[in-house]
Amino acid sequence: MTAQKAQKRVFIRTYGCQMNVYDSDRMTDILRPLGYAVAPSPEQADLVVLNTCHIREHASEKVYSELGRLRDAKNERRAAGSDLTIAVAGCVAQAEGGEIAKRQPAVDIVVGPQAYHRLPQLLAEAERKAAILKAGKRLPGAGVLDTDFPTESKFDHMPDPQGVRAGSAFLSIQEGCDKFCTFCVVPYTRGAEYSRPAAAVLAEARQLVRAGAIEVTLLGQNVNAYHGEAADGSTWSLARLIREIADIEGVARIRYTTSHPRDMDDALIAAHGAVPQLMPYLHLPVQSGSDRILGEMNRQHGRDLFLGLVDRLRTARPDLALSSDFIVGFPGETDADFDDTMRLVDQVGFASAFSFKYSRRPGTPGSAMADQVPENVKVARLAALQALLGRQAHAFNLSKAGTTVPVLFAETGRRPGQLIGKTPWLQSVYAEGPQRLIGHIVETHLVAGHPNSLAGEIARVEEVAA
Ligand code: 5AD
Ligand code: SF4
Repeated sequence: MTAQKAQKRVFIRTYGCQMNVYDSDRMTDILRPLGYAVAPSPEQADLVVLNTCHIREHASEKVYSELGRLRDAKNERRAAGSDLTIAVAGCVAQAEGGEIAKRQPAVDIVVGPQAYHRLPQLLAEAERKAAILKAGKRLPGAGVLDTDFPTESKFDHMPDPQGVRAGSAFLSIQEGCDKFCTFCVVPYTRGAEYSRPAAAVLAEARQLVRAGAIEVTLLGQNVNAYHGEAADGSTWSLARLIREIADIEGVARIRYTTSHPRDMDDALIAAHGAVPQLMPYLHLPVQSGSDRILGEMNRQHGRDLFLGLVDRLRTARPDLALSSDFIVGFPGETDADFDDTMRLVDQVGFASAFSFKYSRRPGTPGSAMADQVPENVKVARLAALQALLGRQAHAFNLSKAGTTVPVLFAETGRRPGQLIGKTPWLQSVYAEGPQRLIGHIVETHLVAGHPNSLAGEIARVEEVAA
């Protein structure tokens, strides 16, 4: 028998986007061979990782206040003769780097999003430092820092993904961004665009299916810029990759996010009509409906390009549900520019959307632009836009009421016996049903449409495999 490693526990708190959810899962996979099991709360963990997001304002402040609480917990542990290791990962780690451990010396490890495959080494180094300090000796500098963009890919240094939850898995295929929208920190925190080789993506997709996935969501900051090297030296686009993943036995649903309008090519649009597993839902951020503001944002597309894409996508897949991101109050945005956004929303009709007030991100060109829009104007514009988007989302949900659709059940609801799942159009459905349906796609009759969800009744529970 092999010697059992001492059981330790890790708690990872994930902020932000699905890329971070994916990264947190991969960190769990990396830590498992080191003897780390998942703790249900920070109180029960020996190692706490904050996997941070930098896209919103005050993101770093929130991280520092969480770190303050963790420092107190660490001090209590030490007083009781044990310890707590604290790591900061993700985009705030990348952006702030060594500043974090300077401002909060209780932090043991700072690791950027491209370097977390080195966690085992970083932990060993942190333990060594802790032992030196415990012995009463001094150390130059606090914490262990790795915010490199290493030449080796983290993807080549990670174990196979293990835990697929409820039939759904994320698969990161592309990272970073070369677009440099003038409001966005991603090109700085996640670095230059990088596509994983196609063979590695396919191998991971097969592994995910073996681990129980029936839905695979392909992730990337700019996912449709994917241009992965294939085994024969050719380059695969996202459309090609989707078709190959659809050929894997057991893949029932494919999604991808987040896309850029400029990278929506003919083949990808055609795939929406041709690949049955590709779900009829697309998140395609437009940010603004004003050509002038789109120019200032350096979006590299205008309003007409976006509207043209919507037409072509709907021709390929008439029931496609569209979702988008919007920013109101970008520097220089006038009432007329904002009206252009409202008109675009009216014209397209979105099934769902995310909308934000512009917030200045240090280091981005937008933060230095003249004509910053006053807060009260941003608040009023956001309220008007969200009211319109909310009406559209409700109307979309109502349009599906009365139909029977396949729902992938993902979790239990708050009420006993209640399950929550997703329609092909990514709407949430609440229905009564046994827990064994979680992770299965079940025909469900949609009985009522609400602003943010639908009520469903499961047609024939007894026919679904146990
Ligand atoms: N201010 C407001 N919203 C932003 N986003 C990104 N950066 C900013 C910013 N500085 C929004 C964009 C993007 C989404 C993920 O977050 O709409 O698509
Ligand atoms: Fe940010 Fe623009 Fe790149 Fe999207 S495309 S990640 S908004 S810079």
